[in-house]
Amino acid sequence: MTRAVAFDIYGTLIDTQAVLTRLSELIGAKAPAVSQLWRQKQLEYSFRRGLMGDYCDFSVCTRQALLFACQQHQVAISAAAVEQAMLAYAELAAFADVPAGLEALQQQGIPLYAFSNGSRAAVQQLLERAEIAQYFAAVVSVEDVQSFKPDPKVYAHLAQTCGLPASKIRLVSSNPFDILGAAHAGLSTAWLRRDPQAIFDPWDVQPDLTLDDFSDVARQLAAGQ
Ligand code: 2OP
Repeated sequence: MTRAVAFDIYGTLIDTQAVLTRLSELIGAKAPAVSQLWRQKQLEYSFRRGLMGDYCDFSVCTRQALLFACQQHQVAISAAAVEQAMLAYAELAAFADVPAGLEALQQQGIPLYAFSNGSRAAVQQLLERAEIAQYFAAVVSVEDVQSFKPDPKVYAHLAQTCGLPASKIRLVSSNPFDILGAAHAGLSTAWLRRDPQAIFDPWDVQPDLTLDDFSDVARQLAAGQ
């Protein structure tokens, strides 16, 4: 029985599409390719740093990944444009289906947690700007344990913050690496497949639930999933 639900942030609750829009304004036609490599590299840098034990604020991974992606695609980007692109990351909106879904879960009395690689301050500010901060019992940031997802330490920290055994916590994430990390740490999982073309990694572990719409989360959990 799920007794708490934790949500990944970027790509799950928060729509990062606006970053692509801003990037297109800043660098033009190569923005889609740069944006895709930017996200891929941002995560790769966090994986590297987690394994190396060389933690830094997630925004450093984000900034360095942007510089790499622009260089890889031979796009000249000014320091001012980099700051503009980084600012776009800090000013994102929630997906349209998120407020109603969180409201429905809150009405069921299930404590909700925001769980992210982002620093506590950055995530808190993002949730407040997106007008969904009020739904969460707490923001759980990996900075508290100086590592990154999918290090088991970060999921153990989440469980400790919730005051529950991992098995009683459901992680909702659109990121398969996060689902696999949570499952490895003993949490139950719900993969939110926002991109219908997205595939889940062919590992031996699959998500406990696969949902195509955020409103399914409340329905499935209300059904005691
Ligand atoms: C997170 O918010 C990176 O989307 C991932 O932790």
